Amino acid sequence: MRLLEHIPHADRVYRTALGAQVCNDSRKTLAQLPENSVDLIVTSPPFALLREKEYGNESQNAYVEWIHTFGVAVQRVLKPTGSFVLDLGGAYERGKPVRSLYQFRVLIDLCDNVGFRLAEEFYCHNPAKLPSPIEWVNKRKIRAKDSVNTLWWLSKTDWPKANVSRVLAPYSERMKKLIENPEKFYKPKGRPSGHDISKGFGTDNGGAIPSNLLQYPNTEATSAYLRRCKSIAREGHPARFPADLPSFFVKFLTDPGDVVLDIFSGSNTTGRVCEDLGREWLSIEERRDYAALSVVRFTSEDLSPERLRALVEQIEGGGCHDVPLRPPQTNLPVDGGEIALLL
Ligand SMILES: C[S@@+](CC[C@H](N)C(=O)[O-])C[C@H]1O[C@@H](n2cnc3c(N)ncnc32)[C@H](O)[C@@H]1O
Repeated sequence: MRLLEHIPHADRVYRTALGAQVCNDSRKTLAQLPENSVDLIVTSPPFALLREKEYGNESQNAYVEWIHTFGVAVQRVLKPTGSFVLDLGGAYERGKPVRSLYQFRVLIDLCDNVGFRLAEEFYCHNPAKLPSPIEWVNKRKIRAKDSVNTLWWLSKTDWPKANVSRVLAPYSERMKKLIENPEKFYKPKGRPSGHDISKGFGTDNGGAIPSNLLQYPNTEATSAYLRRCKSIAREGHPARFPADLPSFFVKFLTDPGDVVLDIFSGSNTTGRVCEDLGREWLSIEERRDYAALSVVRFTSEDLSPERLRALVEQIEGGGCHDVPLRPPQTNLPVDGGEIALLL
């Protein structure tokens, strides 16, 4: 990971073949990175409004100002072709069945006052979301359940790098039939929209152009991350996003070898996805316990729970470690600790 040389040793938590986990306030880490050095930042900040149940105007404004400080730091490190994808959940105002506008205020602030462009807005539907808030949805039955997050795809210039053919969606059954036998299935004709539906429409392009409505159930109950957390009696991070979400934007907006950051990395879903997709990654999380526990995303299934627990505790204690762990005879000392001790 070429940006790691800019990160102080004390902030490094672990590193893999392609990336590194850092523990710090991400604004401080971003300030240490060179200008124009990052291809994509995909992230999900804490939804402070929801957690504190303080949805008054004052806290909304404070939240917008808080995100603003990250936006400024992000803008500096992004390459001109770079993108900033921000996942924000909706919220209600306190005590009223009235929606907060905070995620729209964040968007307008980042565009009007920081200089980002809105390349496109995306929505992420979680069909498995439980109904809430209970008062308005379940008890009084006056609101529908909120199961869609907004994702602002922001760019530094008008022309961020993007290639939608890398994230094609599966064809519908109807489209598959059309491709199988275009002559039989479809009579070419003009449409009221002006689109001329020609035989070319029956060409197999490997998948359909995806829409800006993504759908990922966040039901990872059986994920390796949770299984390994459970094996060492640790609670997993409480607000992980589904791996398909960063995966979509990493494939869509970067090439292999590009640099991807997550500035609120939590359980490091983004780092794991990038490692699998061949992108360099840097994940920044201010809580050492979350940052250390996320190492379980990179350890092998064979590591016993005792050794896994010892590894997590050692990482929590400080120093930077290499993962996956190498066999003892080839394991090299790394700054801050020698993992061979654990094997
Ligand atoms: C919604 S969670 C992100 C979860 C992540 N997407 C995942 O899949 O695990 C937000 C995280 O941001 C972290 N955070 C809050 N303020 C931060 C800051 N200033 N710098 C770095 N991380 C911060 C929180 O500790 C929390 O773990």
